Amino acid sequence: MPDMDEQARSILRGNDRGGYTVPTAGLYPYQWNWDSAFAAWGFATFDVTRAWDEIETLFTGQWDNGMVPHILFHRPDPGYFPGPDVWGATGPVASSGISQPPVAASFARRIYDMDPEGSLSALKRLFPKMVAWHQWFMDWRLDRGAVCITHPWEAGRDNTPDWDGAMAGIDPTGVGEYKRRDTSHVDPAMRPTKYDYDRYIWLVQLGRRLGWDEAAMLEQNPFRVADPTMTFILLRAQRDLAILGQVLGEDVSSIEAAIEVLVVGAETLWNPELASYDARDVRSGQWAGCVSNASFLNWYAGIDHPGMEAQYDRIASLCKYPVPSHDPSSERFDAKRYWRGPTWAIINVLIGIGLEERGLTDRADALRKTTADLIREHGFAEYFDPMTGDAAGGGTFTWTAAVWLGWAS
Ligand code: DGY
Repeated sequence: MPDMDEQARSILRGNDRGGYTVPTAGLYPYQWNWDSAFAAWGFATFDVTRAWDEIETLFTGQWDNGMVPHILFHRPDPGYFPGPDVWGATGPVASSGISQPPVAASFARRIYDMDPEGSLSALKRLFPKMVAWHQWFMDWRLDRGAVCITHPWEAGRDNTPDWDGAMAGIDPTGVGEYKRRDTSHVDPAMRPTKYDYDRYIWLVQLGRRLGWDEAAMLEQNPFRVADPTMTFILLRAQRDLAILGQVLGEDVSSIEAAIEVLVVGAETLWNPELASYDARDVRSGQWAGCVSNASFLNWYAGIDHPGMEAQYDRIASLCKYPVPSHDPSSERFDAKRYWRGPTWAIINVLIGIGLEERGLTDRADALRKTTADLIREHGFAEYFDPMTGDAAGGGTFTWTAAVWLGWAS
């Protein structure tokens, strides 16, 4: 049996479709935005040129308004729903009409640090594109400085209990008949329910009707949630982009101004009753009341809060393989259902980087070790049961292989 590093590299090569990588064959047959940024980091451990190709291909899908879509449908594939015909979006590459957490600039910085000379020309080409994407969030998605999502898929955490309140406010009447494909690839008990999917598709139909016009969506989309994933990840990405801009000799004053706005915004996600960072439904003004794995991205964003260490220790003590995507002591916790409980290596690495940088090194080391054990014992799965470690979702997963190569190994 090849060693773990070799297995991880062969997963990346096997999922390579030429300039971009699919998350896993079958279940996700296209280029996904944040998956690709993780993939680039994994590639950078053995092929920096290929790493930059991944990010450059992602930005071929950038819209005129700066948005970088969450899926690029480079080649037709009937095995996935909803495909480009359902989205009805008209960017330079067939795509979805929403974005995803902007981790690309942060991985670009890591890749640059691994090989400055081999990275410079790609970085120069990508820098203005990254600035434009980040600015799109600042222009269209802020609520009191926190970053909002307009669809559960946008945060990447599709069915987390964080959105339960906002999802309950959607009446999906008229969504019509459709055929899911995900549940033919993966055990339906590990995937979102029909209740969720009706609302996901209803929101896609709404965005399409509105021509994916951000001003119209701001007015008419009932789903608008200020999200810790987006807020903390964009804040971190802006910090990394400012540093890359300085390397390139660019004026970074507008990025620095954005950082100040986002720092203020992040504090609007502090739920004092929960004693945690939480999601906030902008339409209803209600808290989600959820301690999720995204709650712990504050350190990654460079933000400290004394309450979060105790919260982290409590959650970590409740399962063998932290960090669960939802609080195991909550009645909504579901150990195998996607973002309602499972542990995700990609969020663990971001939390781990944050813990390390904040000097919380015991916790950082422990998290890295349990994540490595999880992958070694249970494989390169999409996500894992936090109690037993059982593999869940898709297998031979690109981003889990990338986390192994970049951090866990
Ligand atoms: C899916 O199809 O499950 C994805 O998460 C949507 O991005």
